[in-house]
Amino acid sequence: MPDGQQGLLLALEVMVQRNVSIAIESGGHSSNPGASNIAGGITIDLAKFNTVTLTDHDQSVWIGPAARWSDVYTFLEHHGLTVSGGRVGHVGVGGYVFGGGFSWFANQHGWTCDSVLEFEVITPNRRLLHARKDWNGDLFWALKGSLGAFGLVTAIKLPILPHREVYGGPIGYAATEASALFDALHGLNLNAGKDLRSQGYLSFGWSPSATGVEYTAYLLNIAGNEAPPAFENFTSMSSIHNGMREMTIKESANEIARSNPLGYRRAKFTLTAKSSVEAMEVVRRTVEDFINVYREDLAGDKRLGVTLQPLTMPHVSIGDNIFSLKPEDGPLLLISAEIWWKDATRDKMLDHYSKELYGRMIQGLGDKHWHPWLYPNYAAKWQEPFSGRVMPDRTRRSLTKVREKYDPDGVWKRLVPGVWHID
Ligand SMILES: Cc1cc2nc3c(=O)[nH]c(=O)nc-3n(C[C@H](O)[C@H](O)[C@H](O)COP(=O)(O)OP(=O)(O)OC[C@H]3O[C@@H](n4cnc5c(N)ncnc54)[C@H](O)[C@@H]3O)c2cc1C
Ligand SMILES: *[C@@H]1O[C@H](CO)[C@@H](O)[C@H](O)[C@H]1NC(C)=O
Ligand SMILES: *[C@@H]1O[C@H](CO)[C@@H](O)[C@H](O)[C@H]1NC(C)=O
Repeated sequence: MPDGQQGLLLALEVMVQRNVSIAIESGGHSSNPGASNIAGGITIDLAKFNTVTLTDHDQSVWIGPAARWSDVYTFLEHHGLTVSGGRVGHVGVGGYVFGGGFSWFANQHGWTCDSVLEFEVITPNRRLLHARKDWNGDLFWALKGSLGAFGLVTAIKLPILPHREVYGGPIGYAATEASALFDALHGLNLNAGKDLRSQGYLSFGWSPSATGVEYTAYLLNIAGNEAPPAFENFTSMSSIHNGMREMTIKESANEIARSNPLGYRRAKFTLTAKSSVEAMEVVRRTVEDFINVYREDLAGDKRLGVTLQPLTMPHVSIGDNIFSLKPEDGPLLLISAEIWWKDATRDKMLDHYSKELYGRMIQGLGDKHWHPWLYPNYAAKWQEPFSGRVMPDRTRRSLTKVREKYDPDGVWKRLVPGVWHID
């Protein structure tokens, strides 16, 4: 057994005996309280578990959970290879993969967790196990989408893909184009089956220094096609700036990372809707009303951002994860909102505002547009991706069985408060 894992097992044993609260950190990107650092407890910082090693005659790669996607791409591009990984360079591999993982290959390979070949994991009952489809298959399945509920993962094996030049980048638009942009985004979602290689999302943001709400589409064709028909509706509109160009996935990941600066405090939440232009209009109106009401409190160092992402039928049809999304649900729209600020004395107020915005949005969407699914990687701690409202009972029962087998004493629920648990 490698030394690092042995050390983790011993440390975990002591923490369990002493009943110490634990947080586990890979990339540290979660803004949920207690997720990747903890007051009055111990943070297990996996920083040293960050190696990237080719294996299986360069057909797959073992990645340490604390590696960042930019490091993974740098290493693999050097060998002419890539993986279906994160779109943002500084995000950690660990949390991203266990919470699902939305990559530029989603239409072809599903969530990043769907591609995983094998996990190395320390279970809550302190065993170091390998989990893959034909070995501890129940644990393998449960790890895909549960964001740390079933143990501490020390390595992840993903299949290799050939490296490629991609074509894409950000395009900025004035708010007057919003309706046309919603139409284009819905079209991209509906038509995904015709071109699996073209993907994109739409963000709009508000900050006190900006004159109004600004829209940015980030589009990327992973085959390097400069003008796929799937992007026509976006590129034929009048834009403020167009940063689309030939690049590598690493360059794109670093570019998106730069537009997501670190060092802010954050409050976030997510919602899912049945994709339609009308649902996007509801989101826009809700945010605009919210900004109008709270404009003064949102002044200073604060920003508000909303991202709309197609969850296409090809994407959700792939993979054996815990999400229970089905193509019959139709094309869905993943909505995420985030408020950013720097002044710690504002924490309580802005958490409260984030919940207020959520309440308004869910009310605006109503039964007509709302879909119960929750994406764990974007969810606030107070949202519940394992609840009966989100997850079918059959899935919950299977997860309970896995929990009873690998955590019979309920150690994780008692000691790891920053993640969601299954009873
Ligand atoms: C700027 C930004 C951009 C993002 N872009 C994307 C995107 O393009 N696509 C997408 O899908 N998501 C995206 N996300 C969401 C991101 O995937 C999640 O926040 C993810 O959980 C972060 O992983 P991490 O390892 O960096 O975080 P961490 O905070 O270290 O971990 C997150 C959670 O996972 C648990 N965990 C971490 N490592 C382990 C482990 N080894 N074993 C057990 N449990 C563990 C932690 O306890 C914690 O609760 C983005 C987030 C940010 C802030
Ligand atoms: C362990 O800690 C938890 C959370 O702090 C507490 O609720 C529980 O009573 C403790 N159990 C023991 C056996 O000390
Ligand atoms: C572009 O927009 C038109 C008009 O709304 C629509 O019919 C078409 O399907 C869209 N094309 C794509 C590729 O989304």
